[in-house]
Amino acid sequence: MSLPYGQDIPLDTLLSVAIDAARQAGAVLVECTRTGFRIEHKQIINLVTDADHQAEQRIIDIIHDAFPTHPVLAEERGQTEQPPSRYKWVIDPLDGTTNFAHGFPAYCVSIGVECDGRGIIGVVYDPTRDELFTAKIGHGAYLNGVPISVSTTDHLDRALLVTGFAYDIRETPNNNLNHFVRFALKVQGLRRTGTAALDLCYVATGRFDGFWEVTLNPWDMAAGVVILREAGGLVTDFKGAPHSIYRRELVASNGPIHQAMLDLLQEDATPS
Ligand code: IPD
Ligand code: CA
Ligand code: CA
Repeated sequence: MSLPYGQDIPLDTLLSVAIDAARQAGAVLVECTRTGFRIEHKQIINLVTDADHQAEQRIIDIIHDAFPTHPVLAEERGQTEQPPSRYKWVIDPLDGTTNFAHGFPAYCVSIGVECDGRGIIGVVYDPTRDELFTAKIGHGAYLNGVPISVSTTDHLDRALLVTGFAYDIRETPNNNLNHFVRFALKVQGLRRTGTAALDLCYVATGRFDGFWEVTLNPWDMAAGVVILREAGGLVTDFKGAPHSIYRRELVASNGPIHQAMLDLLQEDATPS
């Protein structure tokens, strides 16, 4: 049987390992909220907890039990040492660490799989709501097994948007505050949840109409962009060019409001 996109492992096999890893990591996170966890500072406002490390280790163990030769790019550990492979797993064991550390229930586990550099699987699990977002390339996107799709909102006046701020907000003028102010005056509502992977999934379900962020990492986006695309959404850079999880900026939307979002982001880019 020939498999699409140059894969030699069935998508269902990859998806079931990703789901198992995401659910088990979610259980680790919930257990840590019960038993307690240590917090360390990577930088002044950038935290990491025991829970991040424990969840990450659980995910890597599950992936490598199933696929010992697959490289993993994980937020806390970096890239594992497997030889080059057509496959790569890109994981954020705890997206929303600041929320988690404060007991604010908005965080998730994010696991994406690439084949030949292309995102083919996305799994995002929110253990606080028991919401599992999944997608296989070419097969649609699901929330707890039910198909999802983006909204049809076609004007910013009626759009609920979301954004986020990177940990270098104090150090760089490219800190998204200019865009935030401009969007706040143009949209129905604007939110900051503190978990980019869930932001992408919420655009995929139509809870949000659009999302942008200036400085994200591959593990924030790898799973969510597959889920969003499979739900009918659009994702580009700020100029409308094809998106890559290895470049930092992202504009994600339901499609109809995408150009209006790009126009607003470009206005900010033009020197007055
Ligand atoms: C962060 C969250 C947040 C986003 C930051 C990310 P972390 O990830 O996704 O929403 O605004 O840019 O770094 O540190 O909680 O895994
Ligand atoms: Ca993250
Ligand atoms: Ca993280």
